[in-house]
Amino acid sequence: MAKHHVTTTINGEVSEFLCEPQETLLDVLRDEVGLTGTKEGCSSGDCGACSVMLDGRLVCSCLVLGVEAQDKSVETIEGMADGEKLHPLQQKFLEEAALQCGYCTPGVLIAAKALLETNDNPTETEVRYWLAGNLCRCTGYDKIVRAVMDTAADMRGA
Ligand code: FES
Ligand code: FES
Repeated sequence: MAKHHVTTTINGEVSEFLCEPQETLLDVLRDEVGLTGTKEGCSSGDCGACSVMLDGRLVCSCLVLGVEAQDKSVETIEGMADGEKLHPLQQKFLEEAALQCGYCTPGVLIAAKALLETNDNPTETEVRYWLAGNLCRCTGYDKIVRAVMDTAADMRGA
């Protein structure tokens, strides 16, 4: 089948790739673009490991076709740090050991960043609801939620 030529912006840089019409954005990011920080858990929209931002909306990249990224802006975990400087969420996750195997962590961080961009003072319940679509099979939820809330407090104080 003929491949589609897609032009998009990934982490602020114009990017072009070829993909099959049925290929997911997740597969494109990992296999065509080489950005393997975005993880594949379920491939069915249930685990959140593949979370990315698409034109400012949090999406499961396993449920988006690569061709749908045409003329859109994609943000992945690779674009979260500012050069060597980690995003405050990344820094806090490290400081508070809010990860175990880390498989879910890229998706959790992308989702948490999306939350803090719309709500800089979430309650614990709001954090838990927001991250309900991001499964951590190590069940490290308490530390994840605490790290998100502590980051929000730091960012409000900054
Ligand atoms: S891999 Fe996309 S939601 Fe699980
Ligand atoms: S840290 Fe292992 S899946 Fe979340």
